[in-house]
Amino acid sequence: MSSIRRCAVIGAGVIGAGWAARFVLNGFDVSIHDPQPEAERRARATLANAMRARERLTLAPIGKLGELCFVATLAEAVRDADFIQENAPEREELKRALLRDIDVHAPAAALIASSTSGLLPSRLQAGMEHPGRFLVGHPFNPVYLLPLVELCGGRATDPASIDAAHDFYASLGMHPLHVRKEIDGFVADRLLEALWREALWLVHDEVATVSEVDDAIRYGAGLRWAFMGTFLTYRLAGGEAGMRHFLAQFGPALKLPWTKLMDVPELTEDFIEKLADQSDRQAAGASLEALEQKRDDCLIAIMQALRAQDFASGKTLAAYEEKLFADAHRGNGAATPPDTSQPLRLHEGVVRTEWIDYNNHLTESRYLQAFGDASDALTSFLGVDAAYRASNGSFYTAETHLIHLREIACLEPFFVTTQILHGDEKRIHLFHLMHHARTQEPLASAEQMLLHVDAKTGRVSAASPEVAKRVLALRDDQAGLPAPAQAGRAIQKRK
Ligand SMILES: NC(=O)c1ccc[n+]([C@@H]2O[C@H](COP(=O)([O-])OP(=O)(O)OC[C@H]3O[C@@H](n4cnc5c(N)ncnc54)[C@H](O)[C@@H]3O)[C@@H](O)[C@H]2O)c1
Repeated sequence: MSSIRRCAVIGAGVIGAGWAARFVLNGFDVSIHDPQPEAERRARATLANAMRARERLTLAPIGKLGELCFVATLAEAVRDADFIQENAPEREELKRALLRDIDVHAPAAALIASSTSGLLPSRLQAGMEHPGRFLVGHPFNPVYLLPLVELCGGRATDPASIDAAHDFYASLGMHPLHVRKEIDGFVADRLLEALWREALWLVHDEVATVSEVDDAIRYGAGLRWAFMGTFLTYRLAGGEAGMRHFLAQFGPALKLPWTKLMDVPELTEDFIEKLADQSDRQAAGASLEALEQKRDDCLIAIMQALRAQDFASGKTLAAYEEKLFADAHRGNGAATPPDTSQPLRLHEGVVRTEWIDYNNHLTESRYLQAFGDASDALTSFLGVDAAYRASNGSFYTAETHLIHLREIACLEPFFVTTQILHGDEKRIHLFHLMHHARTQEPLASAEQMLLHVDAKTGRVSAASPEVAKRVLALRDDQAGLPAPAQAGRAIQKRK
């Protein structure tokens, strides 16, 4: 949501640190308050994990990162915040007291969300002066990667707060799920808790070890859950007659005492020891950091595979990437249209950590990637969008000449300016110049020839009259610009 500029995080344990990382990666400055002296170190480690995961998740450009700032008091943290996420321990009295304080010290227009896993929002907001702006925003660990966030309002929540939080979370690449009925545990934790109880019983009753219980999930149902959930999966298990047949066949078994449901095994010292000991053996000495990275890499592998299917969380990832490209393609949809008589500044980014070579500098192949993104920014400026690509076609790069001028280091910001050297209905001859965003120094240039290719025939074709008109207009607007020094160059053969 455009009115949100600064975020505050109250309580930066596992979940608060995950939120802080997601906010920072999306360009928001974050003020954090947590009385624990170790909280800052842990939050910065989480941010490093999140950066690593983000590099692997998508090739979409990373924009300007936000900054983390730890402050000594809650009042200081929320004073200038537009969005506040509370993540203190799951104790109702503590949360109610914190939310009252947040409400007193936050700006009047700020939204306030709690990460509670299951406490009722009506009870949490009861002591607040302005309860209309409060809601539950329940995330899943790791918050910087998992898209789901459950939204639940209390009796006093203004529906507009739910809508605003929905838009904000979606802009961070998340999938907000509105839990319309206020209920302990919301939707996801009710399901997870039922499974967790049964898993504990299976270990308690010596039916299986912790590792065997995990295998029973990850080699079977867990793989299906990642994209179909429970109901769609069982629909298929019912064959051609679908859910009706599935219920007829397996419905009666629900009455058999297969599960213990509400019974909970007593968490005696002996049982806790048994669970912890088996869990240690399962981890086989792997560190927390190694397991977190393995978890993140596997989540990324699943989301990327689902993106190729345009399904479930893969659809969310694809939509997020579209937004990241649109954000990076500055000038597209900007309030003031760019001056088309000058080279256009349509694309900017940051040198990602995976783009660097052994000298800590941007490696060669990634220059082409950045210039390719700049060409996409130009064609999108000229009116080529997803609908145009599907019905008409798009511009393909036929030829590129790169010249390297200066190096740029890891995480440094850059922008690209683009000049049209020639253009007609079928081709765009252009010149990109990459600049360092802080020093403005030119870093590299790319001269490219783009050809318009028809979506159906795969052959070079004229662009639509509308797009062709924009190409010609831009060519004419820039006709008076001097030819760049590097344009038209080729590597000379020594005589
Ligand atoms: N861990 C999960 O998987 C998970 C998932 C979703 C939601 N949640 C919810 O998120 C919230 C936080 O859970 P967590 O797992 O991050 O717990 P945690 O114990 O890791 O972190 C809680 C943090 O709150 C801090 N804190 C304590 N008192 C505070 C105060 N007065 N002001 C500010 N900070 C204070 C603690 O120092 C600690 O760093 C809980 O409501 C929990 O139910 C947890």
